[in-house]
Amino acid sequence: LVVDEGVIIVGGTNDPIARPADGWMTGGSFLAFRQLEQLVPEFNKYLLDNAPAVDGKSLQDRADLLGARMVGRWKSGAPIDLTPLADDPALGADPQRNNNFDFTHANFSITTDQTHCPFSAHIRKTRPRADLVAPANSIIRSGIPYGSEVSAAEAAANATTNERGLAFVSYQSQLNKGFQFLQNTWANNPGFIFGKNVQPGQDPIIGQNSGAIRSVVGLDPANPTGALSMGQFVVSRGGEYFFSPPISALTGKLAA
Ligand code: HEM
Repeated sequence: LVVDEGVIIVGGTNDPIARPADGWMTGGSFLAFRQLEQLVPEFNKYLLDNAPAVDGKSLQDRADLLGARMVGRWKSGAPIDLTPLADDPALGADPQRNNNFDFTHANFSITTDQTHCPFSAHIRKTRPRADLVAPANSIIRSGIPYGSEVSAAEAAANATTNERGLAFVSYQSQLNKGFQFLQNTWANNPGFIFGKNVQPGQDPIIGQNSGAIRSVVGLDPANPTGALSMGQFVVSRGGEYFFSPPISALTGKLAA
């Protein structure tokens, strides 16, 4: 997928929006910030309580499988589209291979087959690859974890007492095509990814259902049309939109 510079950089090649004629914004980018609390002990308990039945795997392995299917990647980063049944740390660590997938396979129906990756997986809902070629809805993102590690007491109680999570940022030349689109039109929308044999439900990591219980389909490999109900494990604590100006604006127009 080739993404035009102007999807991320204001005034970059093929930015579709008319920008100020004096060019002071050119080279900048709009920045979305969110403080996203992560309910880690609650998430871990949910994985154990709802681990899919798979012959020959321990409870912890089955819980890890459920978590990997929610995200679309194992903890090592290895994509489940390439290694659906067990983590492969060598694959996860290999930058030549760990992004080389698009959810298609030989003799495989991309509209019905969730044996590799559920339609609802976080990385599939937010970047659908061969499901939907949508370069205009691309972001550059990063994050910093905040808060302490889960304490022994929190793990034992399966409950958060010290807030922790992700300080999330994304850059895009249009907020309504970038962050807002990925969150509202894709992650929160139970119908997306469209055109499948089942409605996928919300993104299990970041999807919101107006605070109500969410329904996510396809997480159990043995029951790909079945749904799991879950509360939110990621809770937005607030955020803001910013314009991140180019250095030329900091030394020029904005320096006066
Ligand atoms: C606490 C909240 C979040 C968690 C735990 C989380 C977790 C992850 C993980 C583990 C990955 C795969 C590794 C990587 O590419 O970095 C990922 C990828 C991604 N996430 Fe998130 N994420 C969160 C919030 C968000 C938000 C708010 C958005 C956008 C609205 C988002 C959009 C994406 C995108 C676009 C990808 C890349 C997909 C790809 O290139 O295949 N994430 N996320």
